[in-house]
Amino acid sequence: MRDFETAKGIQRARGLPDRGLEDLWESIILDKVVKDRLVAQAMLNFTLRPAVDRSVLPLHGVILLVGPPGTGKTSLAKGLANRAAQSFRGQEFKLLEVDPHALTSSAMGKTQKAVSELFSQSIAEVAASGPTIVLLDEVETLAADRSKMSLEANPIDIHRATDAVLVQLDALAETHKNLLFIATSNFPDAVDAAFTSRCDLVMTIPLPDREACGQILRSCLEGLGATYKPIARLASSGTLDRVASECVGLDGRSIRKMVVNALASSPETAMNPEKLSIDQLVAAAKAAKKNRATGASK
Ligand SMILES: Nc1ncnc2c1ncn2[C@@H]1O[C@H](COP(=O)(O)OP(=O)(O)OP(=O)(O)O)[C@@H](O)[C@H]1O
Ligand SMILES: [Mg+2]
Repeated sequence: MRDFETAKGIQRARGLPDRGLEDLWESIILDKVVKDRLVAQAMLNFTLRPAVDRSVLPLHGVILLVGPPGTGKTSLAKGLANRAAQSFRGQEFKLLEVDPHALTSSAMGKTQKAVSELFSQSIAEVAASGPTIVLLDEVETLAADRSKMSLEANPIDIHRATDAVLVQLDALAETHKNLLFIATSNFPDAVDAAFTSRCDLVMTIPLPDREACGQILRSCLEGLGATYKPIARLASSGTLDRVASECVGLDGRSIRKMVVNALASSPETAMNPEKLSIDQLVAAAKAAKKNRATGASK
């Protein structure tokens, strides 16, 4: 594959399937119904969409994942791209990761130009060579809600950037049927309604429920247990339920960070992580929830 990393706005390009992304998909604990729905939507993009006229089904080839920070959206988006590619064995898929911040510029008209070039040249060129999936992380940066522009942030330019995204999405939907965008956002209200309306599926990724909290916790402790054997025993301890209950209300990232905080709660465990106890985990989970409630950094 040509080196598309050099194209402005493309942070990374790689061939799929990719073993690391398979592990990433598996590492996110989420209701199977939701995961299956995502996979089915991505598959449909490469089966039905090229076969049916747009006047019958106006598909744009865009899936949007929304939800609170740290719920696994970016991981799921990459894992989903890989899952879709795995379903079509024998075809080389490509995954392009867009860095929205590399496109935005305070200079008048620059963002719009960069967005137009990225879609109409870089992405179109890759899509012309075979099935392509594009990750648009933090899409509110590119497709900002035009009805809520603040005057400080060069509103005309952002307005134009959103316009450019919409125009380009329409153009690509028409010309490249083997192209799928997977977008993510923490701020669904900040995404322009015309962008959301073009999405074939908007999926909300929720905070983990109690059972999922327990699974995330276990997988984290089992991972640590590979290095520190006694921690693996904590993972299978019946009293872990106490910790899981305290984690309800936290996102997946906070749960994993909470385990680090528990390890850092005393010099003894910091020096010798094998000494980690359930009580330390309970205390760290309570503290994480309290921080969350008071808006302190996670
Ligand atoms: N449901 C989950 N199961 C297991 N791990 C999770 C889950 N949700 C989040 N994590 C972990 O949290 C970390 C952050 O995930 P990720 O970056 O994909 O979240 P995000 O929703 O994109 O966050 P942000 O909105 O801040 O960009 C990862 O290490 C991931 O493994
Ligand atoms: Mg993310």
